Amino acid sequence: MDGRAVVRGIAMTTAGSLQIRCPAKINLHLEVRGRRGDGYHELRTLFAAIGVWDELVLEAIADDRLELIVEPTAAVPAGEDNLVIRAARALQRGRAPGAGARIVLRKGIPVAGGLGGGSSDAAAALVGLSSLWGLPRDFADLHPLAAELGSDVPFFLLGGVAWAVGRGTEVFPLPDLPRWWVVLLPGEDAVPTARVYAALGSHGAVGDQCSAIYHWTVAGGGLPLAACRNDLEPTVLTLWPATERRLRAVRETGPLKAMVSGSGGTVFGLYRDEATACSAAAAVGGHRTFVVPVLGRAESCLSPSAVEGEWKSQRSVST
Ligand code: C5P
Repeated sequence: MDGRAVVRGIAMTTAGSLQIRCPAKINLHLEVRGRRGDGYHELRTLFAAIGVWDELVLEAIADDRLELIVEPTAAVPAGEDNLVIRAARALQRGRAPGAGARIVLRKGIPVAGGLGGGSSDAAAALVGLSSLWGLPRDFADLHPLAAELGSDVPFFLLGGVAWAVGRGTEVFPLPDLPRWWVVLLPGEDAVPTARVYAALGSHGAVGDQCSAIYHWTVAGGGLPLAACRNDLEPTVLTLWPATERRLRAVRETGPLKAMVSGSGGTVFGLYRDEATACSAAAAVGGHRTFVVPVLGRAESCLSPSAVEGEWKSQRSVST
């Protein structure tokens, strides 16, 4: 490595700093086809990136240490289990044994809420550190590492809207959706994905195959929202009954669709435009809400940019 890497036409020194924004996702459809031999569940799911963001700032350091600062500090643990560190270790192991980095992770996405924040951070760490360390960073280069880190991680290498099969790791990009807006109502409790899948069998929530959505992925046209569903939703509602109240509150605003996202517990409503979404958010009063757009691929693909001038941790600033 000669200290310079070319990233989509941007030349940058490996000694510099990069920042990379990490979007959240919702699942507009999540169909569970059954349990697999490896213990995971076979899925058919429609991911859409949305405009709630985490951010990573990455700085190369002279040795092979990895340092992670999380802001705000209490958002998620900053140890070896953090998906950002696990992504960095995976790159170090196979591709960059001598490289190190100082990383700041600024959390804006609600944690353990079915919005893919940790997965997005992991994908961004793969892309950003590959840029920083002068490694290849195409989808084909990073997909195997992403899939090992978690079922939702490969989607964030694509951004926009994508269809996923298998564990959720086999992802296929689809054209952008209309500029819909989303109202998110995160829950108070962390909802562990493994717990929802473990309880799934006992609640019999494995649904029928949805041919309307399959047809749409090939033929295009308007997304058949009436056919969209989340097979994890009944289990989430049983395990965390407060989710039902949030879902009811969103339904009462007349959205295009109201669902639990992924393994929950965030509930979302989908609206035709920003003004309608803002009115809905006002109407569900008493709940913590986010009003954000469904993102196109260009605005949600993970794209590192050089940090201008000096940067330092905002650790003392509470967000
Ligand atoms: O892949 P990820 O680490 O996000 O998955 C967390 C847990 O969710 C897995 O350990 C598994 O229990 C469950 N899961 C599953 N089937 C999937 C994805 C996740 O059973 N397709």
